[in-house]
Amino acid sequence: MKNQLNLPNEVEHEEQELLKILNKQTLPKHIAIIMDGNGRWAIKQGLPRFLGHHAGVKSLKEVINACCDLEIKVLTAFCFSTENWKRPQQEIDNIMHLLVEYLTNELIDLYAKGVRINPIGVLQELPQRARDALNRAVQHSLGNNGLVLNLALNYGGRLELTQAIREIVSAVEKGKLKAYQIDSTTVEKYLYTAGQPETDLLIRTSGDQRISNFLLWQIAYSEIWFTDVLWPDFRRIHLLRALVDYQERDRRYGGVKDK
Ligand code: FPP
Repeated sequence: MKNQLNLPNEVEHEEQELLKILNKQTLPKHIAIIMDGNGRWAIKQGLPRFLGHHAGVKSLKEVINACCDLEIKVLTAFCFSTENWKRPQQEIDNIMHLLVEYLTNELIDLYAKGVRINPIGVLQELPQRARDALNRAVQHSLGNNGLVLNLALNYGGRLELTQAIREIVSAVEKGKLKAYQIDSTTVEKYLYTAGQPETDLLIRTSGDQRISNFLLWQIAYSEIWFTDVLWPDFRRIHLLRALVDYQERDRRYGGVKDK
């Protein structure tokens, strides 16, 4: 698979070609991205890891813009996992600072594009400054009808499912629900993504091919697109390549192909 970027005019030409091939009617409704490789990108250039995250914000902005242009309904970006607390405190502080800076600087632009910001994860454990910035962004963008931007922060798929199980058991104990009534629709109602379309496409950058506790329930039937491109190098053209590849897949959901 072609993954590397070429000269700017070649990129523009390829983007135009990819846009011609793309079927606007069958784009994924929900794209999720594991934005991996920031640290390696920085180290490759002899920079501190933090600058990799900094550069990663630019990629995120570009992908958000592309999703808005293509009228994708939901984008879920894995910004900070429940396991990322194991990183050095300085790096954690830097990522939280970037989050606050991003939300502060980009809010007007995101609002103008109709983006609704929807953080998912155990938000109460985030630093106060991050929570305040998130609350402001959520309130500000509440009435928007464009792209729903799920920012996964202190997010873990196992924890999300564990919390859902707790809440379902509690509803049963209170007599609001009978055990035999619980089905997959019930479970979905207790997830952060309740009411959102299924995750159709999962993208992971940097060459690692694993799920890393991301959206464990939601990706049951996702198409997965891995690329060696490190997240700070990820651009609109890579998203377009992923989308064209997605549209070439044969999604059978366990069934057989129509004759
Ligand atoms: C993984 O790269 C990336 C993260 C843990 C953080 C993702 C954060 C951003 C893209 C920027 C922050 C954006 C917002 C809005 C908060 P890694 O550090 O694991 O890279 P490595 O595997 O090469 O070390």
